[in-house]
Amino acid sequence: MNLEKVINDKNTNLLKRIDKQKVPEHVAIIMDGNGRWATKKGLPRSFGHNKGVNVLKEILKASKKLGCKVLTVYAFSTENWTRPTKEVDFLINLFNEVLRNEIKEIHQESIRIKFIGDLTPFPENLKNTIYSSESLTKNNKNFLLNVCVNYGGRQEIVKVAKELALKSSSGEIKPSEVNEELFNSELLTRGIKDPELLIRTSGEKRISNFLLWQLAYSEIYISEVLWPDFNEHEFLKAVIDYQSRNRRFGGIESLPNESFKDSRCSS
Ligand code: FPP
Repeated sequence: MNLEKVINDKNTNLLKRIDKQKVPEHVAIIMDGNGRWATKKGLPRSFGHNKGVNVLKEILKASKKLGCKVLTVYAFSTENWTRPTKEVDFLINLFNEVLRNEIKEIHQESIRIKFIGDLTPFPENLKNTIYSSESLTKNNKNFLLNVCVNYGGRQEIVKVAKELALKSSSGEIKPSEVNEELFNSELLTRGIKDPELLIRTSGEKRISNFLLWQLAYSEIYISEVLWPDFNEHEFLKAVIDYQSRNRRFGGIESLPNESFKDSRCSS
């Protein structure tokens, strides 16, 4: 039996269950489990990261094909610096290599790539590759790929608070003018709609300092699959699950007013 055909048939069946009108515009992903995947196979952790890159390429294609507009992935957190130097160096080289190899195709696909996070501590060669990739793709309109590197949600919020405090002390804004909209306008993700869906792989049920502000009302989907084993099929399952959610944003489904009764009243 042709394996590719079996996979395609399985995905086609899932695709039929997806409401094309309700596809999440922005999906955020915590790509977790590369190290465990490799260790389980008796391989060095770097093999997991290498395989993880192929999965990211597959999910980028799948999300674009489905009609999503933005994909934001957590590639390196502010906490990842505590890993052994060899692994940190490997990841930095991998980002540089992947970006250099893939940027042509990314651009041909009219994908804009943006890096979110503090790039200061990265080596000059990676920073240059990042700046040239961002500049090459800056006018691409089909799709936006945000790659979070040396990113931390708390650090981002503190940075915004500092900016607003500075603007307030210089008289540019009044403290009373600080609101969600103004706060949003200082975030690293300014101008980008909040993610409707957050996917985390490897079964961990944590946000891990990722997009703390932006994920306030996102639906969270935890996949038990380790990132290197994640694929289009698992992605479609996440979208189907998302579409089954009842998104109320803290409200309730519309009910006639008289259906509410104060339970403390006897009558
Ligand atoms: C988490 O697995 C994964 C990472 C910290 C790195 C993710 C990076 C990639 C998939 C490469 C992306 C490349 C580009 C250019 C964006 P882990 O190491 O925390 O796994 P573990 O929890 O099993 O140890």
